[in-house]
Amino acid sequence: AAPDYSPAVVVGTGYGAAVTALRLGAAGIPTLMLEMGQLWNTPGEDGKIFSDMLSPDRRSSWFKGRTEAPLASFLWLDLANRNIDPYAGVLDRVHFGDMSVYVGRGVGGGSLVNGAMAVTPKRWYFEEILPEVDADEMYGRYYPLANSMLGVNDIDPDWFETCDCYQFARVSRKHAHKTGLKTTFVPSVYDFDYMRREEAGEVPRSALASEVIYGNNHGKRSLDKTYLAAALGTGNVTIQTLTEVRDIAQQQDGTYTLTVRRIDAEGNVLGVRQLGAKYLFLGAGSLGSTELLVRARDTGKLPDLGEDVGQGWGTNGNVMLGRANHVWDPVGALESGMPALGIDAWDDPVHPVFAEIAPVPAGLETWASLYLAITKNPERGWFSYDPGADRAVLQWDVAQGQPSIDAAKNLFDKINSANGTIYRYDLFGDTRAFENRFTYHPLGGLVLGKATDLYGRVKGYRNLYVTDGSLIPGSTGVNPFVTITALAERNIARVLAEDF
Ligand code: FDA
Repeated sequence: AAPDYSPAVVVGTGYGAAVTALRLGAAGIPTLMLEMGQLWNTPGEDGKIFSDMLSPDRRSSWFKGRTEAPLASFLWLDLANRNIDPYAGVLDRVHFGDMSVYVGRGVGGGSLVNGAMAVTPKRWYFEEILPEVDADEMYGRYYPLANSMLGVNDIDPDWFETCDCYQFARVSRKHAHKTGLKTTFVPSVYDFDYMRREEAGEVPRSALASEVIYGNNHGKRSLDKTYLAAALGTGNVTIQTLTEVRDIAQQQDGTYTLTVRRIDAEGNVLGVRQLGAKYLFLGAGSLGSTELLVRARDTGKLPDLGEDVGQGWGTNGNVMLGRANHVWDPVGALESGMPALGIDAWDDPVHPVFAEIAPVPAGLETWASLYLAITKNPERGWFSYDPGADRAVLQWDVAQGQPSIDAAKNLFDKINSANGTIYRYDLFGDTRAFENRFTYHPLGGLVLGKATDLYGRVKGYRNLYVTDGSLIPGSTGVNPFVTITALAERNIARVLAEDF
């Protein structure tokens, strides 16, 4: 059992949380991590820890009666989703009216379910989104540190040209180049050498066995294998799973009291209790950390929290779309679950787009090219508190997604026109070509320099910190986890030097 008081508590076990716990532990500070999801280390009856995308079972989803895959349909048929028993599975899709947000649940947070793309943004764009952060320090020190700690690796370009599993990416590249667009390899925390051996038949398949959003049984350097393993290795960090932080209050002496709810994997509540902490770090992700502070402010438990708490939330401009290829241009039946190439049109002055060439790991030829486009959408959402549901509710209107669609359409209309191809209208449950009703990249809610100071210290409270994606003001221009990691490294270095 966890102690009733811990000098430092970290909420969550995603990127920001994992960095913070390692650095606290390495500095000799006893640190307790609280994670609402499970530790994913025990194989089920099929010998696997995670289920795949073709036959997802209850391990796939966080308390759902049916899976909720991003590709809702194929030829308008609901082929991807399955009825399942509610369970503490690894992927959640949190619904807020016109927007839903995918998040990972478990020790490692989003690293368990994400596409492993480890991209450092262009420096000029980083300077635009976070102008008050020293970019020399970020690009000279913290991005390289994050990349090395996360185990980021590059694909062997010769293998990329010849392997079966990236034929889909080569086809999309050909179409992009014919349009006069640039493509770029995307670094990854999936071990490309392991993938090469998967294709050669030397090791059990994971990326090549339709595994990605419901977890990878092999090959991926998720946080439990990198930062969290190192954190536990300090001997000062413990992780308590299936433990959700519900409330935060402050005592007279300035310490924090957390109300935590323990459940079992079937969702039965085992108990609710209080924990004390001197230093409290919120790493529960953009949705989780923002909810905790919006709730604390609006229920009067942390009344000095300001108006900036809950503001500045964005989707990183996410929009998904598919193109229909000609029959003579097959993408191949074997598609790696991990993207390795992107179309880089971020320099476009009107409609910047970074479009990942995404797989459709269906195990058969689809003649479809899929993309997750990251666009520069200036629209921002915010969170209100719903007392009835005791929940922070995202305020995001469907019209706010339109700039993302406009940008993606501008780019992909050109690609279609240069290649004589059309959009796919059968992938998102109705006849839309562009899906922007979900995001994989929730960012903001507790923005750096607004709800916190320039190092993640929450304004109005001492020894209370934000460490995760909620610090980033809605956009990174590329996939966000390397930036979240690097920023967390930067912030905890300063906090350890000044506050302890
Ligand atoms: P993160 O969300 O990782 O972790 C938060 C943790 O806190 C979770 O484990 C959660 O269960 C826990 N938690 C929340 N509330 C809690 C509470 N009240 N009490 C206790 N625990 C609580 N990015 C990228 O760079 N490259 C990519 O390829 C992809 N691909 C991708 C695919 C999919 C399917 C998803 C869902 C996401 C991605 N992403 C991605 C996004 C990336 O995974 C995401 O930006 C980071 O995981 C966010 O890191 P954070 O540290 O903010 O929190």
